[in-house]
Amino acid sequence: MNDSATSPARRIPVGVLGATGSVGQRFVTLLAEHPWFELVCVTGSERSIGRRYGEAARWALPQPIPPAIADLTVEASEPGLAPQLLFSALNRDVAQTVERPCAEAGHLVVSNAATHRMDPDVPLLVPEVNADHLALLEGQAVPAGGGLATNPNCSTIGLTLALAPLHRAFGIEAASVVTLQALSGAGIPGVPSLVALDNVVPFIGGEEDKVETEPQRILGTLASGRVVAAGFPISAQCNRVAVTDGHTECVSLRLQGDPDPAEVRRALMDFRSADTAGLPSAPEVPILVTEEPDRPQPRLDRDRGAGMAITVGRIRRCPILGIKFVLLSHNTLRGAAGGALLVAEQIVSRGLVPGLRRSP
Ligand SMILES: NC(=O)c1ccc[n+]([C@@H]2O[C@H](COP(=O)([O-])OP(=O)(O)OC[C@H]3O[C@@H](n4cnc5c(N)ncnc54)[C@H](OP(=O)(O)O)[C@@H]3O)[C@@H](O)[C@H]2O)c1
Repeated sequence: MNDSATSPARRIPVGVLGATGSVGQRFVTLLAEHPWFELVCVTGSERSIGRRYGEAARWALPQPIPPAIADLTVEASEPGLAPQLLFSALNRDVAQTVERPCAEAGHLVVSNAATHRMDPDVPLLVPEVNADHLALLEGQAVPAGGGLATNPNCSTIGLTLALAPLHRAFGIEAASVVTLQALSGAGIPGVPSLVALDNVVPFIGGEEDKVETEPQRILGTLASGRVVAAGFPISAQCNRVAVTDGHTECVSLRLQGDPDPAEVRRALMDFRSADTAGLPSAPEVPILVTEEPDRPQPRLDRDRGAGMAITVGRIRRCPILGIKFVLLSHNTLRGAAGGALLVAEQIVSRGLVPGLRRSP
């Protein structure tokens, strides 16, 4: 984290909806050390409401539960919670009944759920790529201080970060991606061990549709208050593999002008974003390019840039589409909780929502 000069007393109180799950636990660990935000409220299902967080959470991370958070009482996920800023790690169907009512009650909700990602009035954000889409917040029918912003699917985020500089530099004509997705992406308790071990499951419900449509929206242009999707087709094949964290994606692209691998490598390596400069969760270099012939690998590369950088390797010629490479991104950090924190930091740093403001 870049910012260390903030006293805890000045931190903005925040809550996490669905704090006991896989993504919720990542929020808890990241927020325990966050210079701008202070976690004061955690929610869960009927199973957990009224219990100490430390007892309700089936803790699955190597770091211990931060003691102050372990003592919080799990609350119901509903409008009227104390913090104005709420991060959502709710499942899709639960988010449907909770997130808009919270925004309409004056909460800013930054969500990981798929529920509202494609709603025309809701920004779907990769902060380095499409910060201009934050303008959609202004058109939402919510009271001052409220709003709803979303984080993309965990595979979409890494893919779109890699596609963005190439779309800008050359223009993408077509993309094909095969994902190898980690078990933590299935939440807690997740995939049964007898299905996961010694196996690859070539189906993740709803995932291919998300990976084929969300990048179009993120790389689309904002015109007259709506996003016009980028036009190129994406074909996705999504697989669950026996890796704990870190989604690997094998990508092939047809690019305008047929650039060679060296030009593609340069465009990826040079990518930086002024839109996230100085934000606490922003990695210094969002896309790390490796020259090793057998990288990226989940165990070796998922935590680079504190889990917020993606790693791209094996950039080479594709005999069918022109260019191919392999990318890796951490699914519960960059792909979920860390990505949502970065979205919130960007909103707060720009003072886009009354009542929530911090300077980088
Ligand atoms: N895992 C990833 O890599 C990843 C990445 C990006 C986005 N996402 C998205 O993030 C969201 C959370 O995913 P996850 O993997 O963390 O799922 P998870 O482990 O299953 O956690 C779900 C959370 O929602 C809570 N919940 C369940 N039913 C509820 C209800 N009826 N009312 C209130 N709370 C309820 C659970 O509380 P209890 O524990 O108390 O039951 C838990 O805190 C999903 O929408 C997912 O698609 C996940």
